[in-house]
Amino acid sequence: MSHLTIPEFQRQKKEGKKITVVTAYDALFTQIVEQAGLEVILVGDSLGMVVQGKSNTLSVTMDDMLYHTRMVASAAQRALVIGDMPFLSYQVSVEEAVKNAGRLLQAGAVAVKLEGGHSVVDRVEAMSNFGIPVMGHLGMTPQSVNQSGGYKVRGKEQIEADKILQEAKALESAGAFAVVLECVPSSLAKKITHELVIPTIGIGAGQECDGQVLVLYDVLGLFDDFVPKFVKPYAHLKADALQALTRYKEEVECGKFPSDAESYQ
Ligand code: KIV
Repeated sequence: MSHLTIPEFQRQKKEGKKITVVTAYDALFTQIVEQAGLEVILVGDSLGMVVQGKSNTLSVTMDDMLYHTRMVASAAQRALVIGDMPFLSYQVSVEEAVKNAGRLLQAGAVAVKLEGGHSVVDRVEAMSNFGIPVMGHLGMTPQSVNQSGGYKVRGKEQIEADKILQEAKALESAGAFAVVLECVPSSLAKKITHELVIPTIGIGAGQECDGQVLVLYDVLGLFDDFVPKFVKPYAHLKADALQALTRYKEEVECGKFPSDAESYQ
């Protein structure tokens, strides 16, 4: 089975076909995501929160991202795997950004994602020139949580909305193949989507984007420490897991498990 390519990914916008993206961090869930027919996986630095249990994504390292990208990429048969660039892997210099992006490709990602607008345009340009496909990320950018003071909707004021639109255009001109719009008003996401040739992928950005992305554990109802308004849980796996583990413990304690069916005669 061949992997979805960047041109095929981009063609979906021209064809008016919505793009569904989800995060994954390991081989087992990569297989489940693919069996469900999803073709784009982001190995997000959200793993800092949902896998590592941290309160934000800032402590995620390149080594963490390489480890999880390898697991996802080696399990993926069809999906286009995008590796997220963690905090400090691209901010310091263009050289470090290109090198770290290249390391994610060596780990099996086909593209990388980084956060920011004008401040990263030179990084996006350099990576694109060297054949590294880059996805931008604008609006609420979790790696800037200390500056923004929390996970808040961005672009509600006209000045900020105009800046986000200009940054989206600048990322496109620099060679980005797509851009994530996180927590921006639907009207702004609609305008950006119409003005860009490249696909917009929304998260908390309304239904006019060319595609949507969500964190896998949010989709499955596994992570309920913090559930933003834009999340729709399509399952309640945390409740199922709690019930299963409670029953397992009860059955071990009362001698019901293992029964003859789970024993060798
Ligand atoms: O890290 C991540 O999972 C992300 C998406 C939610 C866009 O950046």
